[in-house]
Amino acid sequence: MSSPDTKAAKLIRKCVIPAAGLGTRFLPATKAVPKEMLPIVDTPTLQYIVEEAVAAGIEDVVVINGRGKSSIEDHFDIGFELETTMRARGKTAEADKLRAIANLVRIISVRQKEPLGLGHAVLCAKSIIGNEPFGVLLGDDMIDAEEPGIGQLARVYQQHQKAVIALMEVPDSETHMYGIAAGKDLGNGVIQIDHVVEKPKKGTAPSNLAVIGRYVLPPSIFPILEKQTTGVGGEIQLTDGLATLQKTEGLLGYKFQGQRYDAGDKVGYLKANIAYALKRPDLRGGLLEYMREVVKTEKS
Ligand code: G1P
Repeated sequence: MSSPDTKAAKLIRKCVIPAAGLGTRFLPATKAVPKEMLPIVDTPTLQYIVEEAVAAGIEDVVVINGRGKSSIEDHFDIGFELETTMRARGKTAEADKLRAIANLVRIISVRQKEPLGLGHAVLCAKSIIGNEPFGVLLGDDMIDAEEPGIGQLARVYQQHQKAVIALMEVPDSETHMYGIAAGKDLGNGVIQIDHVVEKPKKGTAPSNLAVIGRYVLPPSIFPILEKQTTGVGGEIQLTDGLATLQKTEGLLGYKFQGQRYDAGDKVGYLKANIAYALKRPDLRGGLLEYMREVVKTEKS
């Protein structure tokens, strides 16, 4: 991934990655392994998200985690024993790759002591973010793009000096699964949002524009979240905080460029595995051959 405008991205130095969820949709795999550590091919989903942030120039990554998530910290730390053993066995290149993960970026872990919702998870980063705009990246949403998803939003934030959230059109049958935003098209993929609602009931969505897990927000979101009452699912919802922000300061949406995979859904997760494997020269041939066989057998 490359960032065509690193100056824009530099505007956002910090980001928050909420990773405290229970991952119940992926049980039993997530009984002892955090959902964020489930691999796409051979790399944890969280590593792709951190790499996207790094590619956008982000320097500090605040990971909001919960009980039983220490493997996340270990993954981004130096794996001393593993590395030493690999070097002793002459596997220098592989050991260097492991070291590169530890050197990617500064990771700051914050505990969310109770699963009170996404808005509350973001609020847990308040004292570390301080008084500057910041990114939020949700681990379930993988964005494969030339310009990193969060970097695209940082660019729009810089142009308009307003909070901006990633949007994508979804079918009517899926609007109840997302935050949904509606507003005025300002051109170049930018929407001036006049309405945003978390998981509207079927048939009540104000549009087909779903909120996808990338946000660039001003620090003024924190006092809003502090006052936020519980919403859908009895949780403190980030979307409800954004609805207040829209009224007080304005809120933009951006129809980002790139392919999004919903790694929080089983079929989406499998699709992401296939798509990322097909990009790997060492795996592409064998996988395609197998897929052709499957299609042939399924047809007959
Ligand atoms: C969260 C947000 C929702 C957004 C979605 C994107 O929901 O609350 O607004 O549309 O992520 O993936 P979740 O999927 O965590 O329930």
